[in-house]
Amino acid sequence: MSNHTLSEKIQGFYNQNTELFLKLGHSSEGSIHRAIWAYGVSDRHAALHYVDDQICKLLLKLHSHSIPHLVDFGCGVASSLCYIESQISVTGLGITISEEQCKLANHRIKKHEYSEKLHCIQADFCKLPKNLQKADLLFSIESFVHAQSAGAFFHQASSLIKPGGYLVICDDFLADESLLEDEKAAPWLKRFQEGWLVSSLLSHQQISKYATMAGFKLMERQNLTPYLELNRPRDYLISLLTKVLGKLSLKNSYSQMLYGGNALQKCLSKQWINHELIVWQKIND
Ligand SMILES: C[S@@+](CC[C@H](N)C(=O)[O-])C[C@H]1O[C@@H](n2cnc3c(N)ncnc32)[C@H](O)[C@@H]1O
Repeated sequence: MSNHTLSEKIQGFYNQNTELFLKLGHSSEGSIHRAIWAYGVSDRHAALHYVDDQICKLLLKLHSHSIPHLVDFGCGVASSLCYIESQISVTGLGITISEEQCKLANHRIKKHEYSEKLHCIQADFCKLPKNLQKADLLFSIESFVHAQSAGAFFHQASSLIKPGGYLVICDDFLADESLLEDEKAAPWLKRFQEGWLVSSLLSHQQISKYATMAGFKLMERQNLTPYLELNRPRDYLISLLTKVLGKLSLKNSYSQMLYGGNALQKCLSKQWINHELIVWQKIND
């Protein structure tokens, strides 16, 4: 058994694999999340920035008199922050647990000449340094599932968001808690959790409790599962490979990611998991 804590494993995973994700990934723009082919989305660039575009729409609703400040929990290489900055004038802080991503993020920010507006730090979003600037909007794209404590994630988010500000989470949620005991669903859910280092696979009911306790009111919920790419030819190949390798996939961090991704595809197509975009507004301090 390894003595590494889960945070260290996640950190090591992204330190080792980010360059590879960016090379093999779907875009030259650094997004480390899935493409969303919603209605009206006509190309891959727009599909990869679908969630970023939803954030831009929310920012327009804020009617802020000053330049809005954003925080990105689990910012990858700051692809979303740079895209949003290219659409609307904002200031922003990206937070990633991986020092490699932090370097790449600040490099990307500099390359786009956004260094006066955007910045990235290496930190755990469940245990943040004090005195960070309060945000008008805080978002987290495909990062929440890694949170070691959902309660700490919401507590930190709530401490950082100004009253009236927004919290946006786009991630995978359990359709129902009872599935964890279901004999068909449970093994696949476990594979997804093991492969993708998932600690917070929560149902909508569970996450609502955390959000309410942290002073948030639900504004909007979109199920994005129908817009994901499922069952592509490459997914069949990956499924075959993970069947052959079985648990051996967990020995290497890249094949571990494929193992988790394959299980996630199964869970999404069976609707045991939904990929959702959820927006809350902070009402209480
Ligand atoms: C799938 S990537 C998504 C990156 C980015 N949001 C995007 O869409 O391109 C997950 C991100 O969560 C970050 N992460 C995971 N656990 C974290 C933690 N406890 N604190 C800060 N960042 C974390 C990883 O470093 C990585 O940047």
